[in-house]
Amino acid sequence: MEKIVSLAKRKGFVFPGSEIYGGFAGVYDFGPRGVELLNNLKQAWWKANVSDKENYFGIDSAMFKNPKVWEASGHVGGFSDPLAECKECNTRIRVDKELEKIGVTADEKMSESELAALFDANRDKIACPKCGKMNFGPVKMFNLLVTSNLGDFTSEGTSPAYLPGEACQGIYLNFKNIVDSMQPKFPFGVAQIGKAFRNEISPRNFLFRTREFEQADTQYFIRPNENKEAYEAIKQDRWNWYLSLGIDESKLRWKQHDRLAFYAKDAWDIEYEFPTGFDEIEGIHDRGDYDLSQHMKFSGTDLNYSDQENGQKFVPWILETSMGMGRLFLAVLANAYTEEEMDGETRIVLKLAPHLAPVKACVSPLLKNRPELQEKAREVYAILKKKFGNVMYDDNGNVGKRYRRQDEIGTPWCIVVDFDTIGSGENINPDFKDMVTVRDRDTGNQERVAISELANYIEARM
Ligand code: GAP
Repeated sequence: MEKIVSLAKRKGFVFPGSEIYGGFAGVYDFGPRGVELLNNLKQAWWKANVSDKENYFGIDSAMFKNPKVWEASGHVGGFSDPLAECKECNTRIRVDKELEKIGVTADEKMSESELAALFDANRDKIACPKCGKMNFGPVKMFNLLVTSNLGDFTSEGTSPAYLPGEACQGIYLNFKNIVDSMQPKFPFGVAQIGKAFRNEISPRNFLFRTREFEQADTQYFIRPNENKEAYEAIKQDRWNWYLSLGIDESKLRWKQHDRLAFYAKDAWDIEYEFPTGFDEIEGIHDRGDYDLSQHMKFSGTDLNYSDQENGQKFVPWILETSMGMGRLFLAVLANAYTEEEMDGETRIVLKLAPHLAPVKACVSPLLKNRPELQEKAREVYAILKKKFGNVMYDDNGNVGKRYRRQDEIGTPWCIVVDFDTIGSGENINPDFKDMVTVRDRDTGNQERVAISELANYIEARM
């Protein structure tokens, strides 16, 4: 993990939030390379979950919502984690997570006093992760919702405008709007990538557990009791999507929740083997009619669906997929990170699927100080830049060093213009005129490709 965090910072993928002020726990910024990779991941997700699907609709809902939304969703009342503070160094721990580490399971439905009793019974086995002492204060429930003061000019008697604790609520709020405006046939899906904020007690493991993050969600609205087959199909579809990103299947696994939220009918996680071990990357939840029923109750708006075909009226059930973009990003980086021997040296290379790579190709002249090579290389660069956008020009150092730099950021192809390309110089091969060398990132193999064919060559491989 340390190596990935270091590469991410050194190469402009991810920076610690507010770093010049000493940082801000649980918050990260994406740098120039990172935002490209992130956008490519979002694009791949959107294509698979909206563009390529029939009867799926994308939305982008506002982050701020009427405070009652979070009462209806259950977040105001029940979205809390149990916390205990070390009396020696004030470090706060997630009690349920620490209990889990010593093999004790805290039931999700446990009350504060039951959890406190369980913690008390195990105090002698739980040490502070920072100072190592075993001297914690009492267990307290800590609500994870982040509040703002939006519209709160008097601060008396108003509920705070919460930041979203989960992105999916925006989809439920727009269910009726989507039915009225798009007239979808049942069943149908709604997809969204949206920000979420949680006051995590112990943010950890780089992008894995942060206080600000993005979720890519789909909510599939189905008729009551038509959940089983559709749930299995969605699970399979989501598994296959990770493989389409080049993720090693042996690093993925399913985990069924043994402790279901009270409204859930079934819940499975897709876990990835992060450098810190297997952990959740996406949750797939069979939520029944809980969400729309709650919003119907709290808002007073009728969210029943009237089926024109058979005249039936029902509250739709929902099958949800919810993936953390930061966790996906981390999984993709970890999956791609490779250290290996090449040409007698150890190299670091990110073996990213080409369609995800932040830079698609890097164009160089063989020598920096030869204007005729520079001119031709600039021409090739302009052609590729126009076609693919994310293309680099690099004439610093020698060619070998340029290759290493591109390997570290996962650029699939390095293109070199040499004397053969321009057809001038000693011992040139006339057959290679107007051809460049293209070096493959993963094998290091080079081949000659005509400049006129270069864009097609890259596109075909992407
Ligand atoms: N609407 C369902 C929902 O929010 P969740 O299991 O709490 O379910 C879904 O979150 C996904 O969001 C998780 O699988 C994870 O990838 C991501 N996620 C949750 N909390 C996170 C955090 N603190 N930091 C980064 N990602 C997080």
